[in-house]
Amino acid sequence: MCGIVGYAGNRDVVSVILKGLTNLEYRGYDSAGMALRDGDDIKVYKTLGKLINLKNELESRKSELIQPTCGIGHIRWATHGSPSIVNAHPHSCTCGKLVVVHNGIIENYKELREELTVKGCVFKSQTDTEVIAHLVADEYSKVKDLEKAVRNSVSKLQGAYAVCVMHKNVPDLIIGARKHAPMLVGIGDGENFIASDTPAIIEYTKKTIYLDDNEIAIVTKDSVKITDADGNEVVKKVEVLPWEPIALSKLGYKHFMLKEIHEQPDVIRNVLNGKLYDIDAPIVLNEVKLDKDTIKNLKKIEIIACGTSLHVGMAAKYIIENFTGISVEVEASSEYIYRKTTTDASTLVIGVSQSGETADTITAIKQAKEKNAHILIVTNRPDSNMARLADSLIPVNAGIEVSVAATKSYIAQMISFYLLAIHIAEVKGTLDDVYLKNLKHEIIQLPTKVEEILSNTTTIQECAKKFSSFKNFIYIARGVNLATAYEGALKLKEISYINATGYAAGELKHGPIAMLDETMPVLSILMPGGITYEKILSNSEEAKARNAKLIALTSSKDTNIDALFDVVLRVPQVSEILSPVITCVPCQLLAYYIAEFLGKDVDQPRNLAKSVTVE
Ligand code: AGP
Repeated sequence: MCGIVGYAGNRDVVSVILKGLTNLEYRGYDSAGMALRDGDDIKVYKTLGKLINLKNELESRKSELIQPTCGIGHIRWATHGSPSIVNAHPHSCTCGKLVVVHNGIIENYKELREELTVKGCVFKSQTDTEVIAHLVADEYSKVKDLEKAVRNSVSKLQGAYAVCVMHKNVPDLIIGARKHAPMLVGIGDGENFIASDTPAIIEYTKKTIYLDDNEIAIVTKDSVKITDADGNEVVKKVEVLPWEPIALSKLGYKHFMLKEIHEQPDVIRNVLNGKLYDIDAPIVLNEVKLDKDTIKNLKKIEIIACGTSLHVGMAAKYIIENFTGISVEVEASSEYIYRKTTTDASTLVIGVSQSGETADTITAIKQAKEKNAHILIVTNRPDSNMARLADSLIPVNAGIEVSVAATKSYIAQMISFYLLAIHIAEVKGTLDDVYLKNLKHEIIQLPTKVEEILSNTTTIQECAKKFSSFKNFIYIARGVNLATAYEGALKLKEISYINATGYAAGELKHGPIAMLDETMPVLSILMPGGITYEKILSNSEEAKARNAKLIALTSSKDTNIDALFDVVLRVPQVSEILSPVITCVPCQLLAYYIAEFLGKDVDQPRNLAKSVTVE
């Protein structure tokens, strides 16, 4: 969603901020802006659409600038007020001396706006953010101290915010503040940064301080001071970022999504590294802080997540129940938070999130925490807000994922759940030794099998071409691959904007079959060796009888099925329980090639954001 970059230092301020915003643009946005301290003045630039427009605007007005010494930049994903130049950040107070950029939502903005209007503030935009500019300016006019003015003002805000403020009368100072929205300070040598996420600063420094809720950062090029809500200075740990700037390069691939799909074999190896290395040794999962007795007595697990991470949870239910016999409930975070749940102190609650910043999941996890449940977080961002709520934390080590459509984080989370399920099974003794060894052996082979798929994508590309003109799709599967059907359909929707729905194959005849004709292709995921192969084959026959075009995704070597299906996407053989790791890859590639063929903005699909930090 929105992104913030602030910089104070001797480099070219415009370039640093633009670069930082570029590294955040994968999060999704509709407009961009920048405020620059230039001599005695603060100059504001805003444009609609992609960052290139802001870059061009700054370039065309270059002669206005003498030598900016610090600045704040923002990319906006509209929540209050449509995407427009007037609603783009930075926002200014009535006299224009104070500028602010903001991520999050101010829930009491209407009341504040009324109060400030009565005081004579003139509002220009429809945003909630503009109240912050007027509020801080109003406080500043009273206390004449920008730090105090920010502190007093944010105490009046309800909701979520990460804000950066500059004032014309206070040269070369940027103040940042946060509550329920991420913000960090990057420490450089004779330069400092403020940002909403690490990719914004990684090219310049790896030294980072993460702000906690209610903390305020007072930043100049030579100093960083962090205070709490009462103004007391706080000594914070300086952390070193694990990412390399190279992670933000496409490395010759046309899109980040394709690069990230191709990284998956190594991602699986990374997840397994140190945890599953020998089929005779138990899984090493020191991240799980539950003692053996607690694990043995576990009666219920709840998995809470959104979107793609929710689909991982759906597969995890099958995997954990199959391996351990423990009952697993899976729920969308946005549903969990608005009902009376049965979560209690004996429940293991697992939050799954690529970004670790998804607002609904964070709220759900906080609610579960209040009920004293043990919180296990599975995330690709161990530096995230969600990770900080964890009693146990499994970082999935997929490396930074730039494409909005999640791929490698999905597979990394999935592998983490296999390890978790086996770990629990080993503690409980629910799996037979021989089965366990074979299972581990097969898991170790998974990267090679994914490599096999990636080494020849011709059939998938041809299939994409053949089916790219269809407006609707149905994906069907049963059992553990039902999650793949949901995820495959979601991938297609997200990046190609084609309407696609995943169904449990057995449900087809209870309604969806009514939609079937030659305009509605059906992709069947049918992996032999399990108990549902023949059933899905019959469901596919039923679709064929209604003239639907059929695609099979299967490891079956049976050439008879080639007559039933219009296209057969063959994948390597693997046990059904492990097959989601294999079947997800052609689904990702099919969505990718269809979107690419249709000329869509694959990495930054319209209306979507990488971190959904608002409810
Ligand atoms: C994935 O392709 C989507 N962009 C989206 O569904 C995403 O999975 C969802 O918003 C949850 O995000 P999270 O994993 O960061 O919590």
